Amino acid sequence: MGRLDGLLNTSIGQKLALAASGVALIGFLLVHLLGNLTLFQGPEVMNAYAHWMQTHPLLWAGRVGLVTLFGLHTTLAIRLALENHRARPIRYAAGLRSQDSTFLSRYIVLTGLLVLAFLVYHLLHFTVGAVQPEHARLLDEQGRHDVYGMVVRSFGEPAVAISYLVAMTILGLHLFHGLRSLSQTFGVNHETYVGAIRWAAGGLALAIVVGNASIPLSVWLGWISL
Ligand code: HEM
Repeated sequence: MGRLDGLLNTSIGQKLALAASGVALIGFLLVHLLGNLTLFQGPEVMNAYAHWMQTHPLLWAGRVGLVTLFGLHTTLAIRLALENHRARPIRYAAGLRSQDSTFLSRYIVLTGLLVLAFLVYHLLHFTVGAVQPEHARLLDEQGRHDVYGMVVRSFGEPAVAISYLVAMTILGLHLFHGLRSLSQTFGVNHETYVGAIRWAAGGLALAIVVGNASIPLSVWLGWISL
């Protein structure tokens, strides 16, 4: 434990923990996406999957793990951004920007905070049921939580569908930059691999975003209905 504390107090240790927690969160996003895509298989499959999740004995252990991961990832990102800022108090003169100073890297913390804000809204929406309570507590014919009905009714309102599409675009920017930075953090600098990793990073970020965005979009366009 002492060693782990020591490592987390070094800049490289914090970067590694930030990258590792990011990879674990991407794992969660992929599993969550697969669950969300059951919408395309209809109410029976989606509600059965949601019921299995909601009654799983490890549900709360999983939730505690997720909160810890999100907390660690956010705290480390903010800490490293503040340290970088302190270490570089003199601004670059116009036209003399550091290589890192691309649109995405300068806005990585901002996109991360926006994803966090989306997450709070999303949990209040679908987990707590506080955003559209009229859709949140419905039951299906078998007495299970009607998650399919909740999602379809929610995204039937254009403002809600659009808010999710905007959030998924911001998530895409965040993932794209985060995944591309991974190779740097883990010290992969060889040109051959860097190119391949960057393409894979872009592809994975795109798959997560397009997969998730297809849900509000399909409902909004009327391809999926009650
Ligand atoms: C269009 C995209 C998305 C849809 C349609 C969606 C759908 C849902 C639904 C229906 C639930 C409630 C499940 C239930 O009560 O059984 C849920 C929970 C959740 N979602 Fe999403 N989600 C999306 C994107 C995201 C993203 C991008 C994140 C993370 C950044 C996320 C994180 C979560 C979390 C943490 C929970 C709570 C899980 C729990 O109950 O412990 N979701 N989502």
